[in-house]
Amino acid sequence: MSSLPSVLSQRIEAVAGADPELRPATKPQFGHFQSNIALRLAKQEGAKPRDVAQRIVDALDLDDLCEVVEIAGPGFINFRLRTDVLAAAINEQLADPRAGIVQTRDPKTVVIDYSSPNVAKQMHVGHLRSTIIGDCFNRVLSAQGHTVIAQNHIGDWGRQFGMLIEQVIDEGLDLSTLDLPGAEELYRRANEHLNQDEAFAERSRERVVKLQSGDPDTRAAWQRLIKISLAGFNRTYERMNVLLTDSDVAGESTYNEMLGAVADDLAKRGIAVRDSGALVVFAPGFDAPAIIRNSAGGYGYDATDVAAIRYRVDDLGAQRIIYVTDARQSNHFKLVFAVAKLAGYLPDDVEAQHVGFGMVLGPGGTPIKTRDGGTVTLESLLDAAEEHAAPQIALAAIKYADLSNSLQKDYVFDAERMTQTTGDTGPYLQYAHSRCAGILREAAARGLAWDQVGVLTEPAEQELALWLTRFGENVQVVSDDLTPHKLCTYLFELATKFSSFYEKCPVLKSDGDVRASRLALVAATKQVLARGLDLLGIVAPERM
Ligand code: ARG
Repeated sequence: MSSLPSVLSQRIEAVAGADPELRPATKPQFGHFQSNIALRLAKQEGAKPRDVAQRIVDALDLDDLCEVVEIAGPGFINFRLRTDVLAAAINEQLADPRAGIVQTRDPKTVVIDYSSPNVAKQMHVGHLRSTIIGDCFNRVLSAQGHTVIAQNHIGDWGRQFGMLIEQVIDEGLDLSTLDLPGAEELYRRANEHLNQDEAFAERSRERVVKLQSGDPDTRAAWQRLIKISLAGFNRTYERMNVLLTDSDVAGESTYNEMLGAVADDLAKRGIAVRDSGALVVFAPGFDAPAIIRNSAGGYGYDATDVAAIRYRVDDLGAQRIIYVTDARQSNHFKLVFAVAKLAGYLPDDVEAQHVGFGMVLGPGGTPIKTRDGGTVTLESLLDAAEEHAAPQIALAAIKYADLSNSLQKDYVFDAERMTQTTGDTGPYLQYAHSRCAGILREAAARGLAWDQVGVLTEPAEQELALWLTRFGENVQVVSDDLTPHKLCTYLFELATKFSSFYEKCPVLKSDGDVRASRLALVAATKQVLARGLDLLGIVAPERM
């Protein structure tokens, strides 16, 4: 289903041979849309704009869509839609369980790599953003009919496990008593120990070898640390109301068994070469090579991500892969994609994209830190927002703040501003939704019947109706361009248009057909707000 404006636009283009670039009319008396196409064409042709406009208007047959098509001023063309056509579009949308979200004609298997925290460390602000943004992509692409496979690429492998396990042994620590904050404390102690004690550092290195070679006790301790961490991550996910589950967890260690084969394959085909003991890939245009295997025979972050691409394409059937991490990793992903392309692991028809987001800043405009300069945990941010609002509202505030700016931008975490129910905030949208719900509740309590949108006489109703029909195309933009802020802008505008409609057009205080029609318009607004908020991962409350 295409929205009315896009249908209208296509019809004009078919006649005029150029995009009419329809703009909303500046005043209700000018209709609904205006185009300057005649002025543009006239310039090219050296003709009079009004003559060109007349020629276009004469050739157009828009009786089924428009009530009035007229030429204005120097040669603008104004269009006024038929209100019955507008009403029919809203009614169709109201009856559609998808609220007008367009189903893709080209469904793809999309892997989204997001959240991805690290074992024995609490999730921090970077993981907050990754989780919220990735989850929004998941919801939007799924809603359009794509098959989304979430991959939580947790950091569950690496040299740090040597020192962690040695520290457990040193302290005689009972791992069954440990939770995630406790594991993070352990990490800190182990790290300090490592820096001070050469013998401990040596034992930690040996422990890494034991872990790699599959020593049962070492593996068991490692598994426990993962389990403790996952339990902590899951508590946060639950608090954040995100889609991720245990079955989405595919940490770095998932690829261990594949690394040798990848290295051999790359070496055999001459894509990877030896360089002072290491196996590396020099990709054209990069300053540094990708390290496939270091000189000690170990595999790291680069190699794991190359193997992960191969697995995602070959085994998961990915046709598009989206990575959501902070912008500082953008070089890493560029390099990994380049290597995977060279190797043929990432065919041309599979799109790999890294969505790098900006930082979360504190009140001073510098990256947010704890009082003692440490990284801020995600839990503490949720706590801060909950000091100003109930949990569902605090969460809406954070998610909206995170999604409503273009992702690459840094944003200031201002719990007080974010949780306000006025202005461009998540709670404002929730409030607009609950207002719709309240009106419909009141109507039901009074036994007022309504069914469909019928009469749309007032400009404010028409404007609201028209905006509602554009929901689907706005969702489309987010899935094409991965720009959630455009959906936020759309919803904010919707709430604003609803407000001015409600101010100018009495609903419960009007009568008969007008009241019934306006109630249906309120219901259509509620539906789009609820669906739109859901795509952002935000709950739409019935009352606030
Ligand atoms: N664990 C990493 C971090 O905390 C993010 C991993 C992102 N995904 C990936 N495939 N490299 O920064």
